[in-house]
Amino acid sequence: MANVTFRSITKQFGAFTAVNDVSFEIADGEFVCLLGPSGCGKTTTLRMIAGLEQPTSGRILIGAADVTEAKPKERDIGMVFQDYALFPHMTIADNIAYPLKVRGVGQAERRRRAAEVAKNLSIDQLLDRRPGQISGGQQQRTSVARAVVHKPKVYLFDEPLSNLDAKLRLEARSFLKHLQRELGVTSLYVTHDQAEAMAMADRVAVMDRGEIVQFGPPLEVYRQPATTFVANFLGSPPMNLLSVRYAGGAFASSTFELDASPFAGRLRDVRDGSELTLGIRPEHVRMGGEGDRWRIPGEVYAVEPLGPESLVTLRVAGALVTARLFGDDPPTATGAASFAFDPAHLHVFGQDGRRLAAR
Ligand SMILES: Nc1ncnc2c1ncn2[C@@H]1O[C@H](COP(=O)(O)OP(=O)(O)OP(=O)(O)O)[C@@H](O)[C@H]1O
Ligand SMILES: [Mg+2]
Repeated sequence: MANVTFRSITKQFGAFTAVNDVSFEIADGEFVCLLGPSGCGKTTTLRMIAGLEQPTSGRILIGAADVTEAKPKERDIGMVFQDYALFPHMTIADNIAYPLKVRGVGQAERRRRAAEVAKNLSIDQLLDRRPGQISGGQQQRTSVARAVVHKPKVYLFDEPLSNLDAKLRLEARSFLKHLQRELGVTSLYVTHDQAEAMAMADRVAVMDRGEIVQFGPPLEVYRQPATTFVANFLGSPPMNLLSVRYAGGAFASSTFELDASPFAGRLRDVRDGSELTLGIRPEHVRMGGEGDRWRIPGEVYAVEPLGPESLVTLRVAGALVTARLFGDDPPTATGAASFAFDPAHLHVFGQDGRRLAAR
């Protein structure tokens, strides 16, 4: 068993807290994506699991073993570093095969397995070169190949596909997901690409300023974001957020008023006059008309045809609200327009940014 357990882990660099009292468990064989903005503590978290950084307090377990003080080489981890960390004097083949060499695998077998992963990552034509003689994206794939050429207890991936073009990135993403399923290696995968996290993960951990703010299956995190931060981080374009005042049973802004009665249960503890945030995903917004009861008026700001869908953005009460409209022809709206939606898709966040749950 190689579940990974973080128990109240804090990491301080001097007076700065990079990771703040984080606890979670990654189940044996599970694929978890750690998602968050630059500087939130993702790499620091991985480096502590790998043993390259010592936590200031808390315990780390791999399986039943407490590895908090164990040396990196005692932990049996395959890691892709954000800066690749390839051996410059070795060929690509020897770089990839290195984890096999230190485990005493014979040369013929090493070459065969290195060539096989290299082929899956489309770098098999580069095996005799050295890292200085290949591109950044090729170096990154070499680093991925080196991590997955063997089957350790845990894989740690730090933005392993960030330097690849869109097509290679999709290919490598499918390959890694397939391989992880096949081998069943417990994996923690860092990315700030929310689509990648949604596509690959069994569960997503969203991190903000050193803390895990939500940890759950991708669709749960997408559909029920715990905070406005999570709501705004997942989805492309992200969830629309509108500031309103709650008073007299309605949500009001400077240009619209919406009946809040369907949300009575959620608003039970909310005082009249409170500032709230309404959230609605772009795919749940459509062009509005006279007959729509749930409607917000605005001015057309931009229309962006994307092929199978179009993005239409309105300026509404000083904020921008975007709709994803499916269909071949982009709308021709200009000037005044309105958006409509079904209140079942509306999210309500309290003054502290936390989701008000339905009761
Ligand atoms: N050795 C260090 N000394 C001091 N501060 C550090 C050190 N390493 C990281 N930090 C700080 O800790 C915070 C978290 O860094 P970390 O590298 O974990 O971020 P990250 O989430 O991986 O960001 P990115 O997406 O940019 O890679 C940052 O504010 C960073 O400046
Ligand atoms: Mg990082």
